[in-house]
Amino acid sequence: MPEVILNMKTDRELAAEEITLLCAELNQHCHRYYVLGDPLIQDSEYDQLYRRLVELELQFPRLVSPQSPTQRVGDKPLPFFEQVEHELPMLSLGNAFDDGELVAFEVGIQKQLDIETAIDFVCEPKLDGLAVGLLYEQGKLVRAATRGDGHTGENVTRNIRTIRSVPLRLQGENLPARLEVRAEVILPQSGFNELNRKQLEKGEKPFANPRNAAAGSLRQLDSKVTAARPLDIYFYSIAWLEGGDKPRSQYLALAQLKAWGLKVNPEIKQVKGAQAVAAYCRTMSEQRQQLGYEIDGVVVKVDSLALQQDLGFVTRAPRWAIAYKFPAEEVLTQLLGVDFQVGRTGAVTPVARLQPVSVGGVTVSNATLHNMDEIERMDVRVNDYVWIYRAGDVIPKIQRVALERRPENAQVIARPSHCPICQAEIETVEGEVVIRCDAGLSCAAQQREAVKHFVSRRALDVDGLGARLVEQLVDEHLVENIADIYALKLEALIKLERMGDKSARNLIAALEKSKATTLPRFLYGLGIPGVGESTALSLASSFGSLKKIQQADEDLLLAIDDIGPIVAHHVSHFFKQPENKTVIDALLSAGLHWPDLMVQNVAEGSAESALAGKTFVLTGTLTQFTRAQAKEYLQAVGAKVAGSVSKKTDYVVAGEAAGSKLVKAQELGVEVLSESQLLVLLELDG
Ligand code: IVH
Repeated sequence: MPEVILNMKTDRELAAEEITLLCAELNQHCHRYYVLGDPLIQDSEYDQLYRRLVELELQFPRLVSPQSPTQRVGDKPLPFFEQVEHELPMLSLGNAFDDGELVAFEVGIQKQLDIETAIDFVCEPKLDGLAVGLLYEQGKLVRAATRGDGHTGENVTRNIRTIRSVPLRLQGENLPARLEVRAEVILPQSGFNELNRKQLEKGEKPFANPRNAAAGSLRQLDSKVTAARPLDIYFYSIAWLEGGDKPRSQYLALAQLKAWGLKVNPEIKQVKGAQAVAAYCRTMSEQRQQLGYEIDGVVVKVDSLALQQDLGFVTRAPRWAIAYKFPAEEVLTQLLGVDFQVGRTGAVTPVARLQPVSVGGVTVSNATLHNMDEIERMDVRVNDYVWIYRAGDVIPKIQRVALERRPENAQVIARPSHCPICQAEIETVEGEVVIRCDAGLSCAAQQREAVKHFVSRRALDVDGLGARLVEQLVDEHLVENIADIYALKLEALIKLERMGDKSARNLIAALEKSKATTLPRFLYGLGIPGVGESTALSLASSFGSLKKIQQADEDLLLAIDDIGPIVAHHVSHFFKQPENKTVIDALLSAGLHWPDLMVQNVAEGSAESALAGKTFVLTGTLTQFTRAQAKEYLQAVGAKVAGSVSKKTDYVVAGEAAGSKLVKAQELGVEVLSESQLLVLLELDG
């Protein structure tokens, strides 16, 4: 009968049906097990279903879907992570350290909104892992990225896919066309202990804390390594939603996330008013040790999305959320000795060497002692027992000496009379707290620090030239000043210990790449005392070119807003020194270059740039300069650079392969510029 023939299914069709069913069933069990922690079936039953799926997929490899549970085991290693631009920047948060600051947070909100009633908040444990953004299109996980600098992160999709609690496909009907969710990837305490046990077994260095271990595990180019690490994830916000309605409050958003099958932290609560927030923070602080994962505080968010919108943002953080940080843990340990370190400007700083102890989940073996006055004030001596603490993420500090436990062999710490590095005599200047080695760039420590600073990310940003390598280069006398790095030869680099042929080649390439820079970065990199990033930016935008800055006298420098007499003196003094001039000339002849800015000379009275006050959004890949450089130039002429397109945006600069921001600009009728049009506006062309 013809109907029967028509209805007869091929093996392949039957397999396809079974695969679809098995995938759905296994994904459902995965969700019960990893997200809800409430499995319906035995592990052995799960394994049986899984094996059947593997069998069918082996037989029909073309039927393997990317959403299949078998596709979580990792892929071939990547050569590098691709950069990803976030739809909305991933911000940071302001901090509150006590109840008073929580009250002040609420009062500030009430004032701004002009209301007197208590505010509805959502309180969430502040998970100590790393932030990621996951993009789901038509319900399928298509991309995951780390926070990075907040605007651009790394594409870690393959690695995120290996986390069992991340659904590869969302649950439910009517899924949004496009959804970006934010989450924290963590390594639970048990997984952390297990991982470190294995590290030690393999003779490898253990991770300092679960957060580092989570970050290290997620940022693996080989996703098979990530797959073997027991990472977990908690989702906490909807950053972007297209083709659907965005929930009206944070609490509803969390409920929606749960309904889509995304794991949401069970400790999250909705509370009213600052007092209730403070009570929640107290409870969490008490329960902190029992959670099974590390938290470093509580994130408090205004619940209503409408109110969040009214409140808006300050530079890098929302006004509608704050991070309550738990008080720093204090631990007693012994001071084993004091080392003196020499900084970039010759300042000699005492550093405490401690009997290693764990403080707030981190093993601490050093602490800063600031300066000799601090040592004398605390009367701290070698072999003393000291209370140390870490406030937030900063370097550990010595809080006080446990004088009641002072041992008999306690030794007074003497002021160093000579530089511990170059042995030059140290003169103590009356009234000066800081002691300095005056040997300047003939002191190896100062050479090292100057080079480290010059190549650092915010200065010349030379990839792969880390602190250890700089030290090696200076110690081997391959580098004495910052210009010497551009004279490094492959042959010499290859001979260095721990340096392979490939790394040496990469370093040469990175040095070459760093030569195309910007004037503010260059100025900052020179390490002129008092010239930080913002002063460097002011100098560049006021004078436009290095030559004009070099020629400026103190009076002219003083005419600049941010510059006071001390910095004016340092700048003019720096450029007058013949050694500095030699180094700068060497850098320029090595090929360092940047576009000059066509600003009016300050002496002539600066004319407002036509771009001052305008808001730009940069998207896509630029070819003439990096996005960070474009941002610097725009800021230098007084323009603002925002992360997302809104009605307030004046221009969107679209580079190659511009995506959703370009679409948004077109929708809102915001003027779109090409990269070359931007160059013309900045007067950098030609
Ligand atoms: S909300 C604008 N919620 O804390 C809102 N962040 O300082 C900012 N974090 O990098 C993020 N748990 O990695 C939010 N429940 C939570 C969080 C949380 C941990 C981290 C996140 C972010 C940092 C903000």
